[in-house]
Amino acid sequence: MSSFHKGALFVGLILLSLVSVSSLAVDKTGYYGYGSPATAVEIAGWDIDVRPDGTGLPEGNGSVEDGEVLYEVKCAECHGSFGEGVGRFPVLAGGEGSLTDQRPSKTVGSFWAHTSTLWDYIHRAMPFTQPESLEDDEVYSLTAYVLYLNDLVEDDFVLSKKNFTTIELPNKANFFPDPRPDVHNIRCMKNCKKLEDIQVVSIVLPAGDNGAVDTQTQAAKEKALQPGELVYNQNCAICHDAGVGGAPIIGDVADWIKRAATGMLTLKQHAIKGFTGAVGLMPPKGGFLNISDEDVNEAVEFMVESSR
Ligand code: HEC
Ligand code: HEC
Repeated sequence: MSSFHKGALFVGLILLSLVSVSSLAVDKTGYYGYGSPATAVEIAGWDIDVRPDGTGLPEGNGSVEDGEVLYEVKCAECHGSFGEGVGRFPVLAGGEGSLTDQRPSKTVGSFWAHTSTLWDYIHRAMPFTQPESLEDDEVYSLTAYVLYLNDLVEDDFVLSKKNFTTIELPNKANFFPDPRPDVHNIRCMKNCKKLEDIQVVSIVLPAGDNGAVDTQTQAAKEKALQPGELVYNQNCAICHDAGVGGAPIIGDVADWIKRAATGMLTLKQHAIKGFTGAVGLMPPKGGFLNISDEDVNEAVEFMVESSR
């Protein structure tokens, strides 16, 4: 009796798996048969863009006055109380008339084309360590306040969905659709130019460099640095030099001894994967996901070495 049952069960299992394989083959959830269509709720979570004509804005409003309080608490630490930018964090105000300088100051007031970019940017990405944490009315207030810092509205101004499109940014007219046609290179397969015959007509200046690049002194400068130091300077110093958001300050021996006690491996993993500790949030790789794990590890070693 019992053996009959087992056999039946076995046949049943085979049938079951045949059925599921064939149903996978006709399943329309994608070429490889996995994944599922995004639900309306999931799409709504991603579909948060706001356009220059106000499309995508939620109902709501916010005043310069409320914005000032929020800004001091949530933004000034990095962008400065007047939008002047702390350290290398972006400047949000000023810079009018500087666009033709060799080092223009591109701010919301001097450079940006649309108020909607400001609302959208704050809403989706700020504060840097807590993106998408602000209520819609808070975003309206903060947008109003950044406009105020740029002398574009008065101190009693209230920004709302209704009056949104009446606020035009001063540099708008200098943006225009690029009229140049698309061009495509044809890949050379034979009798191609020799490398030495190719003329470089323009180069990109490294950030922070003011004039022509002397690649040799640049290379020498980079060589003189300790391993991990350049990575630190470019990606970590922005918070760890001054202790932004509670970041342990490089050279603060007492703080780093405590942290190093958990082991270098832990510190490195926290730096790579991100870490929320007692004082704040360390974003994965400091928010610079383009750098390699090895580079982050070297930067951590440099930080610990410099804090003994
Ligand atoms: C921990 C530091 C930090 C805090 C706090 C912070 N920001 Fe930022 N903000 C940044 C960084 C870094 C960028 C540049 C991000 C990038 O380029 O990817 C930025 C970019 C911006 C920009 C775009 C500037 C430009 O010209 O490209 C705006 C606008 C802005 N932040 C507004 C805010 C507002 C409003 C708050 C407060 C709710 C805030 N930020 C809080 C670090 C911060
Ligand atoms: C946006 C600011 C910010 C940037 C950029 C940043 N950090 Fe941090 N980091 C923090 C904060 C805040 C903490 C403290 C978190 C806590 O202990 O609550 C921290 C902590 C750390 C720690 C200690 C972790 C532990 O376990 O105690 C290490 C190591 C570290 N960061 C490495 C780096 C490296 C390497 C970089 C550059 C690749 C970097 N950080 C860039 C904010 C930053």
